[in-house]
Amino acid sequence: MASATNSSRGFAMPRQWLAKDRAGDDAVSVGIAADTCTTGSLLPPGATVEIASMFEELGISRALDELDATLIGLTGVKQRLREIGALLLVDRVRARFGLHAPRPNLHMCFAGPPGTGKTTVATKMAEILHALGYLPSSHLVTASREDLVGQYVGHTAPKTKEVLKKAMGGVLFIDEAYSLHRPDNERDYGQEAVEILLQVMEEHRDHLVVVVAGYRDRMDAFFELNPGLRSRIAHHLDFPEFPTADLIEIGHRMLSEQGYELSDAAEPVFAQYVSRRREQPHFANARSIRNAIDRARMRQAARLVAAGGLVDRSSVSLIAPEDILASSVFEAPPAATASTLTGP
Ligand SMILES: Nc1ncnc2c1ncn2[C@@H]1O[C@H](COP(=O)(O)OP(=O)(O)O)[C@@H](O)[C@H]1O
Ligand SMILES: [Mg+2]
Repeated sequence: MASATNSSRGFAMPRQWLAKDRAGDDAVSVGIAADTCTTGSLLPPGATVEIASMFEELGISRALDELDATLIGLTGVKQRLREIGALLLVDRVRARFGLHAPRPNLHMCFAGPPGTGKTTVATKMAEILHALGYLPSSHLVTASREDLVGQYVGHTAPKTKEVLKKAMGGVLFIDEAYSLHRPDNERDYGQEAVEILLQVMEEHRDHLVVVVAGYRDRMDAFFELNPGLRSRIAHHLDFPEFPTADLIEIGHRMLSEQGYELSDAAEPVFAQYVSRRREQPHFANARSIRNAIDRARMRQAARLVAAGGLVDRSSVSLIAPEDILASSVFEAPPAATASTLTGP
């Protein structure tokens, strides 16, 4: 199901919002869009604006700093978001000087494998765009094929519109967007969902930012088949696989956020776990690390309960080597050893 991660919508969609003929449709008045850029009185030509403090006042620098602090790695993504934030801010300042500031196209593509932070960054971006006044709300709705595409004739349009209605005012995040296209099935309704999306991305770009996400190569192939979609997406951000060192750091960060830490002896075991896990099937970067930590906590709890006796603050906070070593990841020999063993 499509899910709203933030319920503050504050946006009532007019009945006719998806009507084909939009002539005279001025019911969409949420106090943003074109006039956003002109909020604040017009400044005289000789005036000056303290741009850094404006960045701060709007909460953009806070949101970006938070992103820097909470997310490990992703240098390229962080850099691009700073650039987008800066561009939008300068647009606002330009508008106050009466300079041309058309509403920029903010639809985006986040390309990368699972668990590389795409949803997390999209959530933060919704906050930034809201802080800047480009979106009336900071909520994010995630949707995948099942939420958008129906099973029979006449089923798809209402489903897609329902999701769009939920997302309106904020960000719609479409995970594995290419799954909307099923080339093997000519009676598939995915294309119908794409057509509706395209229409809304164009007509409601003042009220909705669409982020399409998924593997880079499959995304590229999807764009090849849907040039209309590609042309509506202005920003392409790459979310690369994390190097092992970053995954280890992500693990440390997640543990400390939950009030846990690795014992000295568990440190090298965890590092080994990460190296082995990333070579295994269904590895999903930071998400796999989060799952591993959840399981380690469970094993620690089981170990403490089984041992009985007294526990203290330190014993309930420490993850021991055995809490990690019990993972099935340690059952198989590491990839390098396996090939050596099966070699000639
Ligand atoms: N760079 C990062 N630093 C720390 N934690 C991260 C990072 N990227 C992702 N995570 C965590 O990993 C999990 C999966 O991230 P998510 O944004 O859902 O990935 P995706 O949408 O790319 O599949 C979340 O719990 C998130 O907090
Ligand atoms: Mg995701």
